[in-house]
Amino acid sequence: MSEEFLPFSKPSISRAAINDVVACLESGWITTGPRVAQFTEALRDYLGAPHVLPLTSATAGLHIALLALDLKPGDEVITTPLTFAATLNTIVLAGAKPVLVDIDPNTLNMNLNLLEEAITEKTRVIMPVHFAGLPVDLDHLYEIADRHGLRVIEDAAHAIGTEYKGNRIGSVGDTQVFSFHPNKNITTGEGGCVTTRDADLAKKISLLRFHGIDREAWNRYGKSGNQEYEVVMPGFKYNMMDLQAAIGLHQLRELDDFIARRETLVNRYQEALADWPQWTLPKYPAYPHRHAWHLYTPLVNVESAGLNRDEFMTAMKERNIGTGLHYRAVHLYPYYREQFGFQPGDFQHAENVCERIVSLPLFPSMTDAEHDRVLDVMYNIFNR
Ligand SMILES: Cc1ncc(COP(=O)(O)O)c(C=O)c1O
Repeated sequence: MSEEFLPFSKPSISRAAINDVVACLESGWITTGPRVAQFTEALRDYLGAPHVLPLTSATAGLHIALLALDLKPGDEVITTPLTFAATLNTIVLAGAKPVLVDIDPNTLNMNLNLLEEAITEKTRVIMPVHFAGLPVDLDHLYEIADRHGLRVIEDAAHAIGTEYKGNRIGSVGDTQVFSFHPNKNITTGEGGCVTTRDADLAKKISLLRFHGIDREAWNRYGKSGNQEYEVVMPGFKYNMMDLQAAIGLHQLRELDDFIARRETLVNRYQEALADWPQWTLPKYPAYPHRHAWHLYTPLVNVESAGLNRDEFMTAMKERNIGTGLHYRAVHLYPYYREQFGFQPGDFQHAENVCERIVSLPLFPSMTDAEHDRVLDVMYNIFNR
């Protein structure tokens, strides 16, 4: 096989970003400092969020956003079975019980028509995922949350740049958590941020992110810094570094171009695969939105394809093309089955989708020739 391996995702890091990382390294200040402050402002402008807290990851964000809500043992947090383990893990780590609501098989987001059935007197938080960058129907979600007096933490790990009815995710609603992992729409290496409209929650997340200390290190040790500080609660070490923010500042400027390229590539896939019986293609909801296309996730129609999803992924890999699996149904992992009694059949739409879903290669620097190569290999696998 002569052609190089084509990954399913690849970050696009500009020369300017690389130069700024070098400048940061040479500046003498590489941890949380002026670049993180600049990145915070830039995120606030882009996302239209009053409070923005950059962190080491979205997992860290979900963890301390939940902890900041002071959940009590037995409190319930409602989420979706079609998500990364971090969504459920952080609910458990915050001392609460994950309660799941099946997905809508068209949008792959939580089925909001089933949400109210899952609400009990112990429910405190709803934590939906904007899957692949497609916004949850926020009007419907917040109507239910407000009526039941529940907090909402949107797992927006996939959704930087996503819009719902003309509003960016982060600019409306309660609290959101974004990821800047290398396969996301923008990256800082590892990284993430929380956005919120709640000033008290923002203050608490800010303390939890750095040892429960009121001031960040550069205030204490910089020229104008004050070395005095108080520890007001036991906190974590989840602060983003300037080295990461140096990358993020450049990535954020390019985000809209990245999404535009992703969208072009998705439209190419949708057109090329439209009449293939082997695939069920992503569908769009009727409400106005901008999909951020973090992932392109068709479903394998196993009978027409003559092979299942895992076999398809193996066949692609043998032909030097990477694919991704987002995700296996989280409730069927051993910990969740043993701890919470989840079983096969509990969430049938999610389980069906999780057996068939595959993420095809999609990243901003992917060329038309690389895209054609993916399609050619798929023609070849299915003998079309
Ligand atoms: C839906 C979802 N939530 C949370 C996370 C965690 O993000 P991070 O890797 O930044 O901790 C991910 C990461 O892939 C994710 O896909």
